[in-house]
Amino acid sequence: MIEDVPRWWQSGLIYQIYPRSFQDSDGNGIGDLVGIRQRLDYLQDLGVDAIWLSPMFVSPMKDFGYDVADYCAIDPRFGTMEDFEALLADAKARGIRIILDLVPNHTSDQHAWFQEARSSRTSPKRDWYLWSDPAPNGGRPNNWLSEFGGPAWAFDAATDQYYYHAFLPEQPDLNWRNPDVRAAIYDVMRFWLGKGVGGFRVDVLWHLLKDDARRDNPANPGWHEGMSPTQRLLPIYTTDLPDMQSIVREMRAVVDEFDERVLIGELYLPIERLVRYYGAELDGAHLPFNFALIEAPWHARELDRLIRDYEAAVPHGGWPNWVLGNHDKPRIAGRVGIGQARVAAMLLLTLRGTPTLYYGDEIGMPQATLSVAEARDPVERNVPGFGLGRDGCRTPMQWDSSLNAGFTTGTPWLPIATDDPAVTVAAQAGDPGSMLALHKRLIDHRRRHPALSLGGFHPLAADGDILLYQREHGGERFLVALNLGPTEADVALEASVRARIAIATEPQREGESIAGTFTLGPDEGLVLELVD
Ligand code: NOJ
Repeated sequence: MIEDVPRWWQSGLIYQIYPRSFQDSDGNGIGDLVGIRQRLDYLQDLGVDAIWLSPMFVSPMKDFGYDVADYCAIDPRFGTMEDFEALLADAKARGIRIILDLVPNHTSDQHAWFQEARSSRTSPKRDWYLWSDPAPNGGRPNNWLSEFGGPAWAFDAATDQYYYHAFLPEQPDLNWRNPDVRAAIYDVMRFWLGKGVGGFRVDVLWHLLKDDARRDNPANPGWHEGMSPTQRLLPIYTTDLPDMQSIVREMRAVVDEFDERVLIGELYLPIERLVRYYGAELDGAHLPFNFALIEAPWHARELDRLIRDYEAAVPHGGWPNWVLGNHDKPRIAGRVGIGQARVAAMLLLTLRGTPTLYYGDEIGMPQATLSVAEARDPVERNVPGFGLGRDGCRTPMQWDSSLNAGFTTGTPWLPIATDDPAVTVAAQAGDPGSMLALHKRLIDHRRRHPALSLGGFHPLAADGDILLYQREHGGERFLVALNLGPTEADVALEASVRARIAIATEPQREGESIAGTFTLGPDEGLVLELVD
């Protein structure tokens, strides 16, 4: 969809900030809103169009903010409502939108709604959550499992019933079939939209509805010893239920009450099910998050196939998007190595669709290895040994080589991933060969050449370790050539083609003229401007 005037969320770059880890302004070791505000110049200089903030609402922090106890108030650890409003205003003055994280599937068990619901079986809010009598044998109502380990039913002794929690027992699931629950969350959305936020990233959108009949989930035939016990069952009665689309439509209608806002859904689903969340009439999520790059094996042919499959699956008029990392998955530099992380950045920033960049990936922050004593993530504690722990990708942003990488003057809540001074904003800012400089050149080029953001996408080839595709718009054409391997490889262009290297992972090559065959070095990526 290239409309006459593309929406900001189509042409722009989204940057995810995990507020605990970006910048601490008060020395308590936890990042905060004032800290983010202090770093807006950096984000503007990088070329960010929107910041998605992971939750900064009042929370007991059992799941570091994804357990919300008050949707309309800022947790004091992160600051005050005034701090938030100042951040919003300062960001707006720089042309940067703030996207909030909406966590509608569950609340904290400390939320007033749950406190009221659990106070008695006759509480007016009882039906706001999912309660069930024990099975006839006194056990749990069915076999549903928590994503965070163990059964998904917790027993409430005071009222002699179980409640459902897809995540921690301290995160009871709301009952999205109850119209009052929906109305309450839609009012939360209006509260923030009215303040001027750019939209929402909706947490675990595919989880909202559960089977009314509470049928057992079937065994996962692909499960084997060595796989996480959380994957033993196929969650067909607990996720992605057919009537989800009517809920997404309602959410979209709330967002559409305001001008120019965006609805993004967190959805870990296969592509054909993911794209349903655009809505049959494109009346669902603007951007159902596409995590294909996070989950893909890092091989040219695999990537070529998944890009083609995704491009083919996005409905006509729907807008694609790509995500390379987030606060739940190992960092890109850890997944593919620092050399390939550069190639990955070029891929992310030259594919058709909205890119989402995870804080710190622009300087190649590594996936941290933490000791057992340092682990903070409840998933690591509940399901140890399967590499599911998420602390390693949540370590503090590395600004400079001062104490704690310039993140805090206190004790950081998680250790700094590396003391390598080269992996800091300060060291990379002045180095044209740095990862940060590469990101800036790519983002800037993308902004100045709509062919790279909004333009058509044409897959060309995946041969050995080489991935080739073309972008074009309004007479401009770019060829992107990526070497996903550690050895040199030649690429042959048609004899008549003339090109100039616009962006290279190693900047010395920029400006070089290309005709006929050219060579890609190990881990090298080039954006070639085709000249006739
Ligand atoms: C998805 C979030 O990204 C993750 O961090 C969180 O733990 C779960 N949802 C539960 O809210």
